[in-house]
Amino acid sequence: MSDVVLDVRNMSVVLGPHFAVKDVSYQIRAGEILGVVGESGCGKSLTSLAIMGLLDKQLALSGEILFAGENLVGMSEKRYQHIRGEGVGMIFQEPMTALNPVVTVGEQVAEMFLVHEGVSKAEAMNRAIEMLRQVHIPYPEKRAKAFPHELSGGMRQRVMIAIALACKPKVLIADEPTTALDVTVQAQVLDLLEELRETTGTAIQFISHSLGVVSQISDRVMVMYAGQVVEIADVNDIFDNPQHPYTQALLDTIPRVGADIKRLPAIPGSVPPLDKRGENYTFRDRCPELFDHYVQLAQQRNGQIAGGY
Ligand SMILES: Nc1ncnc2c1ncn2[C@@H]1O[C@H](COP(=O)(O)OP(=O)(O)OP(=O)(O)O)[C@@H](O)[C@H]1O
Ligand SMILES: [Mg+2]
Repeated sequence: MSDVVLDVRNMSVVLGPHFAVKDVSYQIRAGEILGVVGESGCGKSLTSLAIMGLLDKQLALSGEILFAGENLVGMSEKRYQHIRGEGVGMIFQEPMTALNPVVTVGEQVAEMFLVHEGVSKAEAMNRAIEMLRQVHIPYPEKRAKAFPHELSGGMRQRVMIAIALACKPKVLIADEPTTALDVTVQAQVLDLLEELRETTGTAIQFISHSLGVVSQISDRVMVMYAGQVVEIADVNDIFDNPQHPYTQALLDTIPRVGADIKRLPAIPGSVPPLDKRGENYTFRDRCPELFDHYVQLAQQRNGQIAGGY
């Protein structure tokens, strides 16, 4: 397919003998928002960090990550710096840790134009102010002179988005960008990401542990459990016809208007740490009864046995 911008093939991330990400394959198309969902420890962040070339040294990466036909796995650091600016950008959950506390936010955005486009300092600052305007920061000329701690959490996240988008990346990875924000501000940031996708055509890999949040913004959803992709489908299919028991379990934890199914307060247990997963660990090992219950439901719905659990 020609509109695929990121093509991840059989990617694994291992720590010694343990798989943190196991044989993950997916594609992101131009202008698409792919949601990635799963509980804490499912490998969502490691999947993103692997794409960014930012994995800790003790973690070993294998497989292929094709970006514009180029394999990022094993790429030189020098080449990666180029890719990170203009190819793939990333925003993180807590902007305070990613922003430099002693540099104004305007200068931090301007830095991207200085480094990647070699424009003059004055020009870089003008472009930075335009960028702040584009992410709907009010009074951008004034706010450009502010330090990160002088802005609210929502405004800081907008600054992070401005930095990530400054070089017009083809893919933006947003790792829980709204988790630390209250619900109203969270909705505003989601709206902003959607608007930027429309205006810039940037594809977005949007990560959250909440299927409710992911469904608000995604075209397609990838569900991960314990380092593996258990299901990828259009967002409507995820809701109307979930194939994997884990997807169904996640769905049943979302409050839904008019739902006649009994809601799960939470999925029993938790995702075990890497060294407690055992070989070929799956969701079935965590809660076999729930698993069988959901398999039965899926069979009733589909009139067939959906394979590959
Ligand atoms: N640098 C690391 N060294 C060793 N183990 C790691 C490292 N980073 C992550 N892990 C382990 O790998 C697994 C997946 O971690 P990851 O951070 O990708 O999860 P996640 O899905 O992003 O979770 P969360 O929702 O909490 O952010 C976890 O069991 C985690 O403890
Ligand atoms: Mg994470």
